[in-house]
Amino acid sequence: MAKLLEGKVAIITGAGGGIGREHALYFASAGAKVVVNDLGGDRHGGGKGGEMAEKTVADIKAAGGEAVANYDSVSTREGADGILWSALSKFGKVDVLVNNAGILRDRTIVNMSDQDLSLVLDVHLKGTFFCTQVVARQMKVQGKGGRIVNTTSLSGLIGNFGQGNYAAAKGGIYSLTRVAALEFAKMGVTVNAVAPVAVTRMTEDLPMMAGAKKDDLGPQFISPVAAFLASDLAADVTGQIVGVHGRKVFLYRMQETEGVTKESGMWSPAELKERWAEIGK
Ligand code: NAI
Repeated sequence: MAKLLEGKVAIITGAGGGIGREHALYFASAGAKVVVNDLGGDRHGGGKGGEMAEKTVADIKAAGGEAVANYDSVSTREGADGILWSALSKFGKVDVLVNNAGILRDRTIVNMSDQDLSLVLDVHLKGTFFCTQVVARQMKVQGKGGRIVNTTSLSGLIGNFGQGNYAAAKGGIYSLTRVAALEFAKMGVTVNAVAPVAVTRMTEDLPMMAGAKKDDLGPQFISPVAAFLASDLAADVTGQIVGVHGRKVFLYRMQETEGVTKESGMWSPAELKERWAEIGK
């Protein structure tokens, strides 16, 4: 029996560590040829190097899989072009893109520097946009459809104290996922997002992770969900945001309340105050 991702070429960004590395190992074991992208910097976006991506590639090859390393940053158009080029020059096509690379530079909004804002928006939001754009253009040329799996966060969907930059970026990725799902439907390209919670170098010292163990909340739980979304099994799944907290999998949905319609004329602020509870039901 063919493996789940047999014959597929998958680009996974930020695959040198954490969740992306788990994705790369899982996808390769499911038969995919994997472009392991990682800039190799620290978790705040400082530095770079090839070791992280190379280690993931070496581990995939040791297990009998196929992979190539790429060290470009997702946050520039040139970087995104370079990542696609790695897929095309080594494997001749691209079927799957997993936008996973990310950094954190937590500050309250009042204390945030311009650099903390730009770097985080650049890596998450622009990185996801650039990689999605270059890969979708290639998928259009190939004419065989494809799968894009983005990575958002409860921080961007619900909100989290001290993460104004990160939440804005991840909320943007939610919106981009919804729009791309609509725009790419006619090309047979599905676009979904995972919203993970996992103990990694990015999160291990956050208060919300206190006491969490990798056995119950490790990055390994996210990858089967990403692989499902990347596979032929999910041909009819698009525009969805899949939450994964350890063994729990669920969907996030934007909610519109039933609301209240005024019979005629316009609402006054005093009437809005009076019927606020009803409006929110
Ligand atoms: P991580 O820090 O372990 O992994 C992120 C990887 O992205 C690193 O290997 C890093 O070198 C790479 N990277 C950073 N900037 C890059 C760039 N410009 N170009 C290419 N690669 C780059 O973090 P983790 O936890 O594995 O995060 C993966 C994704 O999941 C991120 O998008 C993160 O925001 C998201 N996420 C993680 C959560 C968690 O609980 N761990 C919660 C919600 C979202």
